[in-house]
Amino acid sequence: MEIIRHELQRPSVFIDEAKLSIDYVPPNLPHREEHLRKLTQLFRGVIETPGQVSQKVIIIGNTGSGKTSVTKLFGKLLCEVAKSHGFNLVYVHVNARRERTEYMILNKILSAFQTGIPLRGLSTQELLSIILEYIESNNLYLLVTLDELGVFLKRRGEEILYLLSRTVDDQLNAQQRISLIGISRDPLFGFILDPSTWSTLQKNVLYFNRYDSCQLRDILEFRVKAAVLDGAVPTSTIDLITDIAAASGDARYALELLYNAGKVADEKGVLRILPEYVRSAKAFITPEIRREVLVDLSLHRLFLLLAVCRLLKSSEDAYITTGDLEARYELICEEYARSPRAHTQVWTYIQDLVGLGVLTSKISGAGQRGKTTLVSLPDIPAAVLECELELLLEKRRVGAKGGRRN
Ligand SMILES: Nc1ncnc2c1ncn2[C@@H]1O[C@H](COP(=O)(O)OP(=O)(O)O)[C@@H](O)[C@H]1O
Ligand SMILES: [Mg+2]
Repeated sequence: MEIIRHELQRPSVFIDEAKLSIDYVPPNLPHREEHLRKLTQLFRGVIETPGQVSQKVIIIGNTGSGKTSVTKLFGKLLCEVAKSHGFNLVYVHVNARRERTEYMILNKILSAFQTGIPLRGLSTQELLSIILEYIESNNLYLLVTLDELGVFLKRRGEEILYLLSRTVDDQLNAQQRISLIGISRDPLFGFILDPSTWSTLQKNVLYFNRYDSCQLRDILEFRVKAAVLDGAVPTSTIDLITDIAAASGDARYALELLYNAGKVADEKGVLRILPEYVRSAKAFITPEIRREVLVDLSLHRLFLLLAVCRLLKSSEDAYITTGDLEARYELICEEYARSPRAHTQVWTYIQDLVGLGVLTSKISGAGQRGKTTLVSLPDIPAAVLECELELLLEKRRVGAKGGRRN
């Protein structure tokens, strides 16, 4: 008790660190006003003539360019506007990397209504029918954002888009109740889709450019005000973070640097976030592999990734074979007292990790017997990632025993 009390009483540079968390959506998003305006224009019909039209919009942009925050804020505001126009709009933001199947996505949508309907053993079609009936009988309108849609479509194809839109198109004179926003990081998103699907969506694409260093500075200063003690962040620190993050134009990376540097300051008991703390923080942040992606990975995918790290760490080669990977994976399963998945399943997991950009792969060239797939990590030190994975696995071990991930 003493220890906890003492720790809680220690001064901190943060006044509200939740305001720097991944899920927090600030009420203002500097330098994204134009995108909010554009979205509003695209959804004008949905608000002014509800039921007559629905809308589908695609957002494309790099990591940390504000796609998720802008749509979440837009969804929230649009619901308020709908209310003032006398109808009920429900906004559901689905992370389609986390909700890996059509069923999981629909389930997520339905859970937003809090119907209390027991869902065990339903088929995807039945789930969809329940959603449609529910919104029809309660006279609701729905705006669904499918975030990380590119990743999902590559794995599952376009069925989810048909499920959520064709149902409406099929019924003559039916009220148009479901609108969609799809978000992707993939600049070639159009190529993932069937050309005919793309041609209908193409006119409603919004591109989010990377933030430049001036914009990143504004964003940082704005977020510093909300989260950190007044005067605790010298300009030199903001400069350094801006310089580091400007290369990728990634606001999340900038905020993560700030947050972690603040943690270093707290550890040292210093009430200022000095540039040196940013440098220390940088060594432990890997912008190429997002922490939020790792957190969502299932246990065996984490095992595989850990196996890659350990192999690469001690290897002279830049790539490893999937055969070596599988052998090492089995050792790790043993270490964590889990039975390894079958070969074909492991193969799907590897493909998955490649799809998420967490692993890179290539086919072996000349000189090697037969053709085999080789895998590696994007440009990050295996040892840093290994550390992070071990921590994450430890947390899982301590935390939820069981749960839906396996
Ligand atoms: N214009 C902005 N103003 C303030 N914070 C921002 C802005 N754009 C992004 N952020 C912050 O940066 C982080 C990444 O933004 P996010 O919307 O998740 O990006 P994306 O979805 O494009 O990867 C979030 O913490 C978000 O709050
Ligand atoms: Mg996002």
